Amino acid sequence: MTDRIITVIGDEILDSRGYPTMRVKVRLKSGIAAYASVPSGASTGEGEAHELRDGDMRRYGGRGVLKAIANLAEIERAVRGHDPTKQGEIDRLLIEADGTETKSRLGANAIVGTSMAIARAAAQVRRQPLYAYLGGSSPYRMPVPMMNVVNGGRHAANALDFQEFMIVPHGAPSFREALRWGAETYHALRDLLLERGFSAGVGDEGGFAPNLESNEAACSLIVEAIELAGYRPGAQIAIALDPAASSFWRDGSYELSRSGAGNMSSSALAALYAGWTKRFPIVSIEDGFSEHDWSAFQAQTAELGRTVQIVGDDLYVTNTKLIERGVATKATNAALIKLNQIGTVTETIAAIAACRAAGWNFIISHRSGETDDAFIADFAVAMNAGQIKAGAPCRTERLAKYNRLLEIEREVAGQSFYNSPFASSVDAAASATEASGPGPADHEVVAVIEEAITAHRCLTVAQRAARRVNALSLSALHISVDPAKLVASAEEIDSQQLRELREGTAQERLEQTRRAFEAWVDSSSTQVRWLEHVGDIGSSLLPEVQNAALIVLARPHSPDAGDALHAALFDTGRLVLFAPTDGALPVTLGEHMIIAWKARTQARKAIMRTLPWLRVATRVTIVAVDEADGAHDCAEVLGLLQERGISADVRHVQTERGQHIADRLLAEAEAVGGDSIVMGAYRFGQLFEWVFGGVTYEVLSRTRLPVFMMH
Ligand code: PGA
Ligand code: ZN
Repeated sequence: MTDRIITVIGDEILDSRGYPTMRVKVRLKSGIAAYASVPSGASTGEGEAHELRDGDMRRYGGRGVLKAIANLAEIERAVRGHDPTKQGEIDRLLIEADGTETKSRLGANAIVGTSMAIARAAAQVRRQPLYAYLGGSSPYRMPVPMMNVVNGGRHAANALDFQEFMIVPHGAPSFREALRWGAETYHALRDLLLERGFSAGVGDEGGFAPNLESNEAACSLIVEAIELAGYRPGAQIAIALDPAASSFWRDGSYELSRSGAGNMSSSALAALYAGWTKRFPIVSIEDGFSEHDWSAFQAQTAELGRTVQIVGDDLYVTNTKLIERGVATKATNAALIKLNQIGTVTETIAAIAACRAAGWNFIISHRSGETDDAFIADFAVAMNAGQIKAGAPCRTERLAKYNRLLEIEREVAGQSFYNSPFASSVDAAASATEASGPGPADHEVVAVIEEAITAHRCLTVAQRAARRVNALSLSALHISVDPAKLVASAEEIDSQQLRELREGTAQERLEQTRRAFEAWVDSSSTQVRWLEHVGDIGSSLLPEVQNAALIVLARPHSPDAGDALHAALFDTGRLVLFAPTDGALPVTLGEHMIIAWKARTQARKAIMRTLPWLRVATRVTIVAVDEADGAHDCAEVLGLLQERGISADVRHVQTERGQHIADRLLAEAEAVGGDSIVMGAYRFGQLFEWVFGGVTYEVLSRTRLPVFMMH
């Protein structure tokens, strides 16, 4: 027996910003009842369906929705007695009842709430979950989450002009893992922000809303957070942007006034995005230009569209006609899909059909003002969208969607898949950078060569490191430090040995190093960029290494040698690998790593920082020297490692009376047969100091193992 719609009622509820919105409840003759809550945007496109608000300034600043609620009575009359499973017919009735182009008479909020609630009720009639009812049969494609971890623009009161900086864990094996990767990166980002003195308060979509010095700084921080969480930027977790540029478009140009970057023309803004795509692993740019700047979108799609997803949101407002115009004019290659922009489920599906017909990607999206309703989670699976935008992994209205997807993934186990929509663009970007020589610096291993005598070893170790993580490292970059400059900066810090060097000798040493480098390149037939360092260490060496995945250098010949250089390198916060200068060259850089030592704090940090290298490790031993704490201290870090399939162990050892802590540590490393060591190092004041009274330096000078050092 067909069921029938009996009542449509609603409540004025509050959304995640504390503004009124509506929850619509539909009841069927059978007693089945279903609801839907309506989200609300802040950076709305001009062409969006009309969200009806009361305008009564005595209530909620005019934002009340009592009129729209009252209109549900008329809506009920239009659909009463109809079969809820006939979604197309129901939505046509709703559109006709309203009678306007933009659903302004009854209100798009009232209409979309009804349309969604009826779809839910119909799924119950069919005894199906919503995703199955709307989406037919398996296999189901689980969407890649686009998680908005840094909020700016109209979603935050900070200094960022661009609205959304998202992370996209597209390299994960499943949605569940993607969510974990994203959440871990989100927490790593929080740590970085706090460490640098920024606020970790969040914006409307749960992303952090720090007062960063520039829009660009958000991208660099996110890359750092991805690495800190132990993932590969680009291949595993990429970045997506939604500048929502309509919101800073004034009189034909872009006003980046929040960050103080000034006014920009369309072409200057386009150049900025293009530059970013070369430096950051950006796979998607949404609303990079104003909805009135169609030609800028066209130019961007022509320029970047082969490797970057160019998305229209305000530009299309989920309107099939506008999407078709976009397809015809090649304005973008993807569209954002929001049910409330167009106002019914059926019209939304039509907009998706237009994307599919054009071979476009499409993304199911939340709004900045949300509720606990997770309709879009089911909808994304039903539509095989492949992507969902639902905010940061923070704030329950955002998590409602992600948590519902977890539930769906479990329900459809064995009949679902999780695929990157970006795999080909990431590959293309990687091959493009390979073709043009050493690519984005954050994929590089940098060999810093100080002396001709250690050049060979240093380069060999760097090359092995690069190979071990070949997905991450494209090439080794060679920097030669001009000893004259080293002398100059050493003088400032009063370093005895370096002051003894004379200028003439410095030039000779530079030439020798260059020759050693060339000989190595010849014999290894490896492509390495030679970069002769000029200028002072701080300002010109650092830009060359600041994005390196790993900095390799030979262990210093004395505690004083190269102080300025080492201090500067550690200031980059990058992982440094000291190549041993005695004995045979290490064949492996870490099948069995020894992590020294404060088990709970430093070991955790060490594990996070060396994760790319831990991927090749099969075994890790944490050696805690003279740490009173029991083994329970290490449960968390051991768990972390075991989760990654690494067999992990902790050994608490004590020094003998008069024994140097470094000796005890090395004896342990030898006893367990380790083949690399991970340690922490600190910098105090001007001088670079080895942690715990020279332990690190002692370890470096006594071991023949490579030593990873983190700051
Ligand atoms: P909105 O923002 O919900 O505030 O419109 C989301 C977006 O621009 O994608
Ligand atoms: Zn948008």
